[in-house]
Amino acid sequence: MPSPIQNKRIVLGVTGSIACYKAADLASKLVQSGALVDTVLTEAAREFVSELTFKSLTHREVHTSLYSPNSNLSINHVALAESADLIIVAPATANTIAKIANGISDDVLTTTILATTAPIIIAPAMDANMFDNPATEANVTTLIGRGFFIAGPAEGRLASGLMGKGRMIEPFDIMGAASMLLGKDGDLSGKKIVVSAGGTEEAIDPVRNITNRSSGKMGYAIAEAARDRGAMVSLVAAPNHLAKPIGISVTNIQSAEDMKKAIEDECLEADALIMAAAVADWRPLEKLDSKAKKDKSDHWSLELVKNPDIVAGINSSKLIKVGFAAESENLVENSKTKIESKNLDFIVANDITAADSGFSVDTNRVTIIHPDGTTEVLPLMSKYDVAHSILDRVKSGF
Ligand code: CTP
Repeated sequence: MPSPIQNKRIVLGVTGSIACYKAADLASKLVQSGALVDTVLTEAAREFVSELTFKSLTHREVHTSLYSPNSNLSINHVALAESADLIIVAPATANTIAKIANGISDDVLTTTILATTAPIIIAPAMDANMFDNPATEANVTTLIGRGFFIAGPAEGRLASGLMGKGRMIEPFDIMGAASMLLGKDGDLSGKKIVVSAGGTEEAIDPVRNITNRSSGKMGYAIAEAARDRGAMVSLVAAPNHLAKPIGISVTNIQSAEDMKKAIEDECLEADALIMAAAVADWRPLEKLDSKAKKDKSDHWSLELVKNPDIVAGINSSKLIKVGFAAESENLVENSKTKIESKNLDFIVANDITAADSGFSVDTNRVTIIHPDGTTEVLPLMSKYDVAHSILDRVKSGF
């Protein structure tokens, strides 16, 4: 299943902020995802970036004036508004937000927004004091009330040198918001899907733990793909270095026991559980309260106890349960045993010894194994595409 952005007409409104340089990256990412991007630059934006930047990235006309004789907007000033599947304003200045909130339409962007019925994402970018100003707060609240999706702003260092809330969120997050809005009526809408990701950490003492090489990428890709098909997604994530995906509820946990509790809570109302996490099978019998010092002895034996099997312990007849089997030998045989012992609807097996699949990489080569013994060997794909293949099979079980 392609990303919901593919083949969509997206109007990218760029307004006058130094964060304009990030809009060029966003335009490029949208085009790479298969969108037709119509860029609108306000007069202030053109002080920071040029028409040519966006023309080169999108291979399409860039709109700057309602009255340009070369533009079809001079004949039909709402043409962009009518054709858009989605409008993204990134960066959105306090001034443009104020104009939109007050129904002003004095340029291409504000006219297009006033005349459209398409969903709209606003990614504010301004100085922290401008964002915190009651006037901006009131304008943002008005837009939220009218159904606009306000993405960000993030906290951090601002162009003024101040630290605070006002940085435009990253293009990756805006892409997430776009996928979510364009996919919201997808084939999983109305379903709640719980996904686990990453390798749990089992504490030895306050500075050491036992963990594994799972990066969390497969679980995050499943969560994003489910979101992009309209599902309500709860991600239970062990420590990892991945960015929090927009539009997904994330519970951060550390140990297998924490993960078990979080998953049990989330599964009460869920339709499917996809266990992509690499759960530690063992944990230290006791966690030391202070750091173990090395000068006490030349040897150290740790006594380990078995962790509970999380997915095996979740029993609900209405829940579809999908497991993962990370194997280094006897892939199919071992996976079949796991389907039975964990009462799974199917299992996704991957050979972790292959360089292009498994831990840390963005691709995966999996075999899907069903309880009746049927096996489906899928080709090497991106983890996002593997995620959709898994979700196709989850959906057919609903
Ligand atoms: N799993 C779980 N709880 C555990 C261990 C594993 O829920 N304590 C889940 C994993 O998230 C995965 C599936 O069970 O979906 C299979 O995990 P895997 O590590 O391949 O198998 P194990 O049951 O741990 O068996 P072994 O390590 O001996 O292969």
